Amino acid sequence: MPLPVVLISTVSEGGILNAAPWSCVTPVLRPLDEVLIASWLKRDTLDNIRQTGEFVINVPRAGMEEAVMICARNYPPETDEFQEAGLLARRSSAVKPPGIEGCLAWAECRLEEEIAREKYVLIVGRVVHLEVDDRFFSEVDGMDYENAMPLCSIGGPNGIQFVRPVSTGKGDRYTSMLSSSPKQ
Ligand SMILES: Cc1cc2nc3c(=O)[nH]c(=O)nc-3n(C[C@H](O)[C@H](O)[C@H](O)COP(=O)(O)O)c2cc1C
Repeated sequence: MPLPVVLISTVSEGGILNAAPWSCVTPVLRPLDEVLIASWLKRDTLDNIRQTGEFVINVPRAGMEEAVMICARNYPPETDEFQEAGLLARRSSAVKPPGIEGCLAWAECRLEEEIAREKYVLIVGRVVHLEVDDRFFSEVDGMDYENAMPLCSIGGPNGIQFVRPVSTGKGDRYTSMLSSSPKQ
């Protein structure tokens, strides 16, 4: 199953910038002001979120795969991963970690709850500020995904393949979910 690819940007207590690709990420129902991310225990991202309580979910575009994979490398916590991947920091409005220039959208989040399991952690975050690149969004049609080119990936036996969504040509209104009569 193709999963979204986002870049999570964080900053350590000592001020080191970090960015890491993430696919186990989802909004939590409506009104979409909570997000859930799943993290293995050994992640600088997780340590930074625990230290500062803040993170930014950046939505990268197709074309950013190389930077995404550089950020996936196992750097020590003292390495500035923005610098390693050539990412430009973008000032956030409500949290300290910067966003990443060139992305489609930026959800600034605060740690709300941590659900600890033996081998992984589920982080519930509250979106405290959300911005999108207006070139790719309209109030009427939402995301112009053909031009925005949000990045997804599929994990296979031999590695990761990057993909992006295309239209099936079908869709429906939200109100059709409220109808109990069978579809014609
Ligand atoms: C496309 C992609 C998706 C990933 N998704 C996750 C994820 O959902 N959860 C996770 O813990 N690691 C995920 N990883 C692995 C981390 O990005 C990788 O281990 C990275 O080095 C972690 O960086 P950090 O230690 O700076 O946080 C993913 C990697 C890639 C390439």
